[in-house]
Amino acid sequence: VVDIRKMYGQTSAFTYDPGFTSTASCQSTLTYIDGDEGVLLHRGYAIGELAEQSSFMEVAYLLLNGELPTKEELAGFSTTITRHTMVHEQLAAFFRGFRRDAHPMAIMCGVVGALSAFYHDSTDIHDPVQRTIASHRLIAKIPTIAAMAYKYSVGQPFLYPDNSLSYTGNFLRMTFGVPAEPYEVNPVVEKAMDRIFILHADHEQNASTSTVRLAGSSGANPFACIAAGIACLWGPAHGGANEAALNMLREIGTPDRIPEFIARAKDKNDPFRLMGFGHRVYKNYDPRATVMQKTVREVFDSLKVSDPVFETALRLEEIALNDPYFVEKKLFPNVDFYSGIILSAIGFPTEMFTVLFALARTVGWVAQWNEMITDPDQKIGRPRQLYTGPAQRPYVGLDQR
Ligand code: ACO
Repeated sequence: VVDIRKMYGQTSAFTYDPGFTSTASCQSTLTYIDGDEGVLLHRGYAIGELAEQSSFMEVAYLLLNGELPTKEELAGFSTTITRHTMVHEQLAAFFRGFRRDAHPMAIMCGVVGALSAFYHDSTDIHDPVQRTIASHRLIAKIPTIAAMAYKYSVGQPFLYPDNSLSYTGNFLRMTFGVPAEPYEVNPVVEKAMDRIFILHADHEQNASTSTVRLAGSSGANPFACIAAGIACLWGPAHGGANEAALNMLREIGTPDRIPEFIARAKDKNDPFRLMGFGHRVYKNYDPRATVMQKTVREVFDSLKVSDPVFETALRLEEIALNDPYFVEKKLFPNVDFYSGIILSAIGFPTEMFTVLFALARTVGWVAQWNEMITDPDQKIGRPRQLYTGPAQRPYVGLDQR
């Protein structure tokens, strides 16, 4: 047995922790999760209370500044965000470079990264004023870019922001409105969407947030860092899970087919997993899934629609939560299990689901990025590896191989 570490002169110990299941990469005052109890707090406030009683703009202010805003502070913050919702006209030309059927997340990665080419006055990460402007720009422009990505995919003209509307109302209008036709924001849909944004705003060191921090730790500009977060979020094990969950529920179709899919999820030889189930941190019911389930009913009642897929989801949850496999592994519905059903009822195609997640999570990414930059302990992120390759050996000339 060769001790490779000694061979390379490395004497200091390090932890081998694939997937970082028990390694804290930073300290943070933003978000607390107790996965065993199913608790999620932002700056000390429970997610259920925030989702019921506050607004996305309030939560954004809270995450960025540490305290809930007063009425005046909230009005000032909302006005500042509103002032930054427009994007440069040249940015619209970027969209035309993508194929008509490009996935909107591909467009988001490219266009958000490109923002750094437009806003040179907010890329100096050592200047607090520039950092604040960049943060506001990102939070304000993300809904505009997300709506443009949607409009581009359906071949409709872009709509300019209407800043007389709320953050969320404005986004709904830019997405579903048509030029020269009045668009009435449905208050129940607006509230539901705002709540979905709150539920996705931050979730401590998940893969995409860690990506934003890691990218930012090298001093990269904030627009590039958020683009990196968007790229990471795209994966089906992370932000892509709500799209995958709805597709799975539609594939299951009717409750009588649930046992077949449960059996597949339990079969170790089948890569199939119940999408929207299980979580790295929550070993209890995800508190965001509780709010999501309630919101499905509100949206259905308001829009006077129903979707058989909701019944399938409820039944699937009931069966899984009484199945020893899911009980023993502590697999519960996560935030993604019900969100796709609401988004679909509102009218979003599945390709837009992860875009909406990215829109909301931008607030968390930006807050985490700011916290990292101002942390005196901050260093460039540089994980170690456990080398398992060959020990040193002599080079063999090409003619001797
Ligand atoms: N269906 C069936 N079995 C599952 C599921 C599932 N959804 N999730 C986990 N398991 C099983 C695994 O097979 C594994 O079994 P084993 O111990 O016998 O090998 C055990 O539970 C632990 O699973 P891991 O993959 O090791 O747990 P990890 O913490 O790495 O994964 C994850 C968490 C990725 C979320 C996983 O539960 C999963 O793939 N879920 C489905 C995708 C999903 O819903 N993702 C959204 C996450 S929330 C978010 O990003 C907003």
